[in-house]
Amino acid sequence: MKTSEIRQKFLSFFESKGHQVVPSSSLVPGNDPTLLFTNAGMVQFKDVFTGKDTRPYSRATSSQRCVRAGGKHNDLENVGYTARHHTFFEMLGNFSFGDYFKREAIQHAWELLTSVYKLPAEKLWVTVYQEDDEAYDIWANEIGVPTERIIRIGDNKGARYASDNFWQMADTGPCGPCSEIFYDHGPAIWGGPPGSPEEDGDRYIEIWNLVFMQFERDAAGNMPQLPKPCVDTGMGLERIAAVLQHVHSNYEIDLFRSLIKAAARETGATDLNNNSLKVIADHIRACSFLIVDGVIPSNEGRGYVLRRIVRRALRHGHKLGQSGTFFYRLVADLVAEMGTAYPELAAQQSRVEQVIKQEEERFSETLENGMKILDSALANIPENGMLDGQTLFALYDTYGFPVDLTADICRERNVNVDHEGFELAMNRQRTQARAAGKFKAVEGLSYSGAETRFDGYDNLASQGRVTALYINGTSVETLAAGQDAIVVLDATPFYAESGGQAGDAGLLLGSGSRFEVADTQKIQNGVFGHHGRLLDGALSVGDTVDARVDTLRRARTVRNHSATHLMHKALRQVLGAHVQQRGSLVDADKTRFDFAHDAPLTPAQIIEVEQLVNAEILDNHATNAQLLPYDEAVQGGAMALFGEKYGDVVRVLDIGSSRELCGGTHVTRTGDIGLFKIVSEGGVAAGVRRVEAITGDNALKWVQQTNDTLVRAAGMLKTQPTELVDRIILLQSQIKALERDLDQLRSKQASAAGNDLASQAVDLNGVSKLLVAGLSGVEAKALRGMVDQLKDRLKSAVVLLATVADGKISLVAGVTADLTGKVKAGDLVSLVAAQVGGKGGGRPDMAMGGGTDIAALNDAIAGADAWVRERLGLA
Ligand code: ALA
Repeated sequence: MKTSEIRQKFLSFFESKGHQVVPSSSLVPGNDPTLLFTNAGMVQFKDVFTGKDTRPYSRATSSQRCVRAGGKHNDLENVGYTARHHTFFEMLGNFSFGDYFKREAIQHAWELLTSVYKLPAEKLWVTVYQEDDEAYDIWANEIGVPTERIIRIGDNKGARYASDNFWQMADTGPCGPCSEIFYDHGPAIWGGPPGSPEEDGDRYIEIWNLVFMQFERDAAGNMPQLPKPCVDTGMGLERIAAVLQHVHSNYEIDLFRSLIKAAARETGATDLNNNSLKVIADHIRACSFLIVDGVIPSNEGRGYVLRRIVRRALRHGHKLGQSGTFFYRLVADLVAEMGTAYPELAAQQSRVEQVIKQEEERFSETLENGMKILDSALANIPENGMLDGQTLFALYDTYGFPVDLTADICRERNVNVDHEGFELAMNRQRTQARAAGKFKAVEGLSYSGAETRFDGYDNLASQGRVTALYINGTSVETLAAGQDAIVVLDATPFYAESGGQAGDAGLLLGSGSRFEVADTQKIQNGVFGHHGRLLDGALSVGDTVDARVDTLRRARTVRNHSATHLMHKALRQVLGAHVQQRGSLVDADKTRFDFAHDAPLTPAQIIEVEQLVNAEILDNHATNAQLLPYDEAVQGGAMALFGEKYGDVVRVLDIGSSRELCGGTHVTRTGDIGLFKIVSEGGVAAGVRRVEAITGDNALKWVQQTNDTLVRAAGMLKTQPTELVDRIILLQSQIKALERDLDQLRSKQASAAGNDLASQAVDLNGVSKLLVAGLSGVEAKALRGMVDQLKDRLKSAVVLLATVADGKISLVAGVTADLTGKVKAGDLVSLVAAQVGGKGGGRPDMAMGGGTDIAALNDAIAGADAWVRERLGLA
């Protein structure tokens, strides 16, 4: 029975038993931030079990895509080494939400296995939770399973309810005792029944887990009863397929055989039993479905799990000798296998291919070199030795080798990896980077006072005391009106330029004095210098001033800054997680954002980014800023910018769905941004793009100006802006038609002129003709064509044409083939050109030249006549 049939039969069976067939939910759980990936069929129903959510049905069945990689349930490391581990698998399940309980769950399972799938009853074993007499009795007395094949499993993992037969989704959530059904693969395979010392062998394989959901465990460990008892079952599709297809390994079922063949085709491998092919076949499923569900390779969270899986697959491809990109080409094979059951996969095929291909290209640059480093390190490590943390870290940091990838290679060579040493190396680098950030270059002003307190996150006006004054770099005590200076205050609402955000402008008002601030820059770390001019009065160290930020300029700047965060997020969403900030400049006029990306943005991508950002603006989220220790912030998912240096305590800024570390000033709510518009996009360096965008009133002005241009253009064409494009298309076609007409007229005119000229040709010997003419009003580039035509028309002739334009003489000579033995066009042109102060040359049948001595031209061409006659022996 093919895998697709097994899936279909399961769903139809439960549909016939009154179950609603529910499509698989996303691998990214929508209702559960505690879960990395959907890891069981019940995940989408979690809230239904606990009574928080209701559905119009009380029985459901599904085939759920699951990933067990990188989270609590993590099988990544085992893939390729065992017969049954996968990063991605499908779980068939049936669910009862307060409807039936143990009896029907057991009856349904038995009927499906023995009557639909027709498994021999004597090959099936079952387990029940130690105390679950009810389930035991149903199996023994109602189903009739011989008691020697029913095994009770207690709290075999140490604590109360810690048991193979007590299932829970995670540390908290719905849970309950379970009953598992095992298939006996026969004595040819080593292993013992569940609960026996040999249970880890491969002979008795669990195929179906029936969970009798009864409790909800909370974080404190309490286990109140669920509102109603429920049922949650899970059967691994690949396992049951192996049983029904009479193979032992999941990798031998039909679906995997096709994928393994495809992997062999793409890597050139010939041995289909090669474990690397299994890894690649497994990984293309996980990677493709994760991408379908919106995960993209990145350096954090779900994206990093995806990156690790892709890179692991590429490494196995490399091991098989494939050094180029190949992995993305397996997406088509996967679609052929699974696209019918999962139309969302088929629909996104080309996007999935593109994301994988990009990640392949990214990694293939470093894979080769990283492997050289690792190979040479491993050459010096004996079996059962240890790869040091520093090398592990260097491979991670410089070559993009995730730790588990390096560990996978080491495992093949029986070498361990030093995880602790890796953590140490990582921390060392972080500390160094942060320490370096504390000593920023100063402007060379001597200052020994206290740091400036920045009050400007919430206030745009506050009082400050002057702690230092500088004129031309020298410290002074007092300023007089008209002097340009830098004023340092003990506290200020003025933002000093940093993190790409421009400094504030505004006024400092003392008693009788007015200092106009044009810009604010740090003169040292933490010390703010207000650059500007004293307009009135006098200002001295010690004076108290009323510091007032230019509110309009600040408002425009913060709009642009907040929009930058949203845009960064949107660019990553649209283009991929490789988009990393390379530089930014935010001021009152615009945001200019440089980022890593290889290709120009398409108009559609620009529109998508604009839509994403404006959607966040319309949602009007409140901005939230909090100070956190650096490590905590980054663990909480804040985007730390590559190459930026951060202090021990950082400011974590949430704007809409973006979270970044940022010390800048921002809008209170995203709605304050008003409107976001990208106005330009271009390249600044290899692999770096630059986008400029505007917001708020600037964006409104831009829209108005653009509209004004449109309206005026439409007015000039006597149409409406909406009709403008059609009108232009029409005009262009009219222009083309006119040009065609003009060309026709010109060629008619030229041929008329040619006829005229031809009639001026003089007879040389009754057969051949000579035409020498100086023309006026003819462009130099038209001469050649005219000479060709004249040769055609005169049949046997020597032609020399001259014209004068812009003070320059152009000459073209042509000789028909019958005469080139005696008269060469090149010689003729050279002769004439030499007499008008120029040069010429070319082929015997066609030559060109020029000169500047216009006064000599007439005599020169007149002389041609005698020369030609002499050459032809006619003189
Ligand atoms: N949720 C149960 C499991 O994953 C059925 O085994």
